[in-house]
Amino acid sequence: SCPMYMIHRGVIFPTNSHDEESLDYAENRFQVWDEDIFNVTYPKSGTTWMQQILTLIHSNGDPTLSRSVPSWERVPWIEQRTAHGYLETRPSPRLITSHLPVQFFPKSLFHSKAKVIYTARNPKDTFVSLYHFYNMSGFLEDPGATQDFLNKFLSGEAVIYGSWFDHLRGWLGVKDKVNLLFITYEELLQDPRGSVIKVCNFIGKKLDDKAIDSVVENSSFKSMKENQMTNYSLVPDSIMNQKKSPFMRKGICGDWKNYFTVAESEHFDVVYHEKMRNLDISFTWD
Ligand code: PPS
Repeated sequence: SCPMYMIHRGVIFPTNSHDEESLDYAENRFQVWDEDIFNVTYPKSGTTWMQQILTLIHSNGDPTLSRSVPSWERVPWIEQRTAHGYLETRPSPRLITSHLPVQFFPKSLFHSKAKVIYTARNPKDTFVSLYHFYNMSGFLEDPGATQDFLNKFLSGEAVIYGSWFDHLRGWLGVKDKVNLLFITYEELLQDPRGSVIKVCNFIGKKLDDKAIDSVVENSSFKSMKENQMTNYSLVPDSIMNQKKSPFMRKGICGDWKNYFTVAESEHFDVVYHEKMRNLDISFTWD
């Protein structure tokens, strides 16, 4: 059988959905259109949530599509093998997801007016969510003890899509070259309605109050946990074993406190401050 991972210019990708061809397609051959709207995240930072929000905004609050078509098909990943099939025939404005670090992104983005929404989550909670995801995914290795996995996460090279720090730094680095909205998972949690309005304003979509209510309602954690088109229950157990850990696991801020020792947390803070130096960004941690 083939290996679980491939390394592409120093970054690990799972081979269940990526190969050199799909990454080359994304970077070099995919034609970005001015009307395209990108949902960019490091894994476990609110990808599925933003897929749902964008779908609902696009449908003016009508939940039909968000309840009948899987999230990965409505707002597909550009870097996965399925991208070509999903996106080539789709009318504008296309909603597109990506976990790609900026150096692997479609080159044509930088000659376009396309919009990019980058959703970031505090890295301690991202780590906890990723740990559970490694545990339940048949296509990722057993993460081992949390402490070992934490070392991998902090070093960056040993986790899928590379370093959380590099991902964020890379994307913040193009904020003057790209039409970019930066938003956080914690902001979405604290002010769902305000966040939806912010996204609407950014993509230039005017929704009335009732439509906005519907976007908020149909993108709530509870609603998405029950929705088969967002909770990944369509995926077989061998790929995602949700008895081990549900995809829609907790959906909160601060769960890291249940996993980090004081020493681990302090070590994390030291690494964070070192790697985030000179970056104008802050997170909510609890
Ligand atoms: S993936 O695999 O990268 O696409 O995962 P991603 O969707 O980025 O992240 C999954 C985590 O997001 C939580 N989630 C939500 N939280 C709050 N509200 C809503 N609506 C919501 N939808 C998804 C999900 O529960 C995962 O976080 P954890 O901490 O594991 O619960």
